[in-house]
Amino acid sequence: MATEKKDLDWGNLSFAYQPTDFSYASEWKDGAWDEGGLTEDHSITLSECAGIFHYCQEVFEGLKAYTTAGGSIVAFRPDLNAERMHDSAERLEMPPFPKDRFIDAVREVVAANAAWVPPYGSGASLYVRPFMIGSGDVIGVAPAPEYHFHILVTPVGPYFKGGLKPIKLCIATYDRAAPHGTGNIKAGLNYAMSLKSTMDAHRAGFAENLYLDSESRTYVEETGGANVLLVAADGTLVVPKSHTDSILPSITRRSLVQVAQDLGIAVDERPVEWAEVKGGAFVECGLCGTAAVISPVGEIHEGDEVVTFPAGHDEMGPVMTRLRETLTGIQDGAIEDEHGWVYKIV
Ligand code: PLP
Ligand code: COI
Repeated sequence: MATEKKDLDWGNLSFAYQPTDFSYASEWKDGAWDEGGLTEDHSITLSECAGIFHYCQEVFEGLKAYTTAGGSIVAFRPDLNAERMHDSAERLEMPPFPKDRFIDAVREVVAANAAWVPPYGSGASLYVRPFMIGSGDVIGVAPAPEYHFHILVTPVGPYFKGGLKPIKLCIATYDRAAPHGTGNIKAGLNYAMSLKSTMDAHRAGFAENLYLDSESRTYVEETGGANVLLVAADGTLVVPKSHTDSILPSITRRSLVQVAQDLGIAVDERPVEWAEVKGGAFVECGLCGTAAVISPVGEIHEGDEVVTFPAGHDEMGPVMTRLRETLTGIQDGAIEDEHGWVYKIV
């Protein structure tokens, strides 16, 4: 039975929060997660001494649910979000939420909010944001004794204003992630680190910043919310890799590497020096992530110096376009899902 959708202007949604009908909540106490379930309460009440307020124990995830051409509701690779959140939690000494329960909870909360999943062809999707916080009291530096796991969902449009118009980046003056630190997990603390650079970039007219490795400021890492993709003059997809494990293992990036290989595009995953980019080695650049999907980059500024990507400067270049169309086609059911990435929910 088709769900009647909410009366929203689906084609004009921005990337902003609006509460839906249900969230999912579970609590960890006395060494175990409770059975959890849906809730209509979109707030969380905590003690002033909760661990999250003092030592920032928080990890999160981001994935999307879509309506397919056939009218089903699907989620994209929630198993990888479950796995990454497990790794993020372990890194911050938090009790991981079991992976199978994570996938079940995503299914349950998306199904319950089916009316909020944007219709096929609207260009919008339901953003799913699982997160976990230290909720128990803690005053000395230590892991909290209790935790909340929560999933909120909210319908969203494009992450960058202007949709598919190439954006401009600038090289960040502050660092995002320490070498061998927490850049490879999805923890709120990494984003707090990036807010000053993000706002400086916005104030200077850029959509985002590009972070170089903080150890040597030599290699391209990623932006505050997406991994970087480059295309060399011979059409090879070049994917920056970190010597210091400080890039988030993007699920979109890992999927696009596979998509590129399936399309017969050569892929080279390796450390990429900023000097190579400045020297004009690449003809296209894009940012990839759940929120960003693939957003084309037209220019990167470093002070007065400007690097342009000739094949993708005015509009998205041919390689990024092919990758984006193939990925979104798989996600919304128009292209066969050979790898079993799409999880049917309703
Ligand atoms: N890098 C950062 C810092 C991010 O916040 C995100 C968003 O999740 C990504 C990369 C992209 O990861 P994914 O493709 O798994 O959404
Ligand atoms: C996502 O892409 O899901 C993220 O979490 C990135 C965030 C900047 C919105």
